[in-house]
Amino acid sequence: MKVDVITIFPRMIEAALSEGVVARANEAGTIDIRAWDLRDFTDDRHRTVDDVAYGGGPGMVMKPAPMFAAVERIGRERGAPDAVVLMTPQGRPFSHDEAERLSRMNHVVFICGRYEGVDERVAEGLVTDELSIGDYVLTGGELPALVVIDAVTRLVPGVVGDSASVVEDSFVSGLLDCPHYTRPAEFAGRTVPDVLLSGHHGEIERWRRRQRVRRTAERRPDLIERAELTADDRQELARWQAEAAQAGLGKPKEKGDEGD
Ligand code: ADE
Repeated sequence: MKVDVITIFPRMIEAALSEGVVARANEAGTIDIRAWDLRDFTDDRHRTVDDVAYGGGPGMVMKPAPMFAAVERIGRERGAPDAVVLMTPQGRPFSHDEAERLSRMNHVVFICGRYEGVDERVAEGLVTDELSIGDYVLTGGELPALVVIDAVTRLVPGVVGDSASVVEDSFVSGLLDCPHYTRPAEFAGRTVPDVLLSGHHGEIERWRRRQRVRRTAERRPDLIERAELTADDRQELARWQAEAAQAGLGKPKEKGDEGD
């Protein structure tokens, strides 16, 4: 998979790609990531990438011409991309499903904005997808692009050594991951659940699945509503609901609950 990143901070991308699993896959050639300096596609002495906003208002807007020139060069040198992704808080929320979709592509270009935003003609004429990594505003699209690249490339076959660990991750089946433990069996007075020490693989798998259902119900009720649940999952969910209701009975009222 080829990945190109257009940015005014190519070193930010390169630094993040110098360590870890994605870095190793990049060195091994399993993926091929390249950062492009947007200023190399300007044609003035000051290498200007931004300008004042038409209509006034605070903040600068990124000029369209360098973006178009960068994508054009990438197309010539690296082939036509399957997607050109603009990272922006106005984008569609990034998710595991989006990561899977992008991981099936052969070539993706990311555009990182800075300042108040990017000239709308970039979104209209160049971009195939606008993605946001969450409802908060960062100072630029570099960290969001790195988040997306990390989540996407780890799904590319051969990037993560143990493919089973990718399959069992949170969100793959719409559930959060279960708790994990390593040695020692007792630490600071806390013990590892007995079932994990039992060597009984069937029991361990059942326990893990139930933990995932419970955790998802507790922490992400929005996900549990959409998850694909087996009969055993539904039983576990009912047990959890009964326990939660029981625990809730003696619970003191929280501030703001007190009515009139
Ligand atoms: N650029 C700035 N904030 C962003 C966000 N939350 N997602 C994607 N790109 C961004």
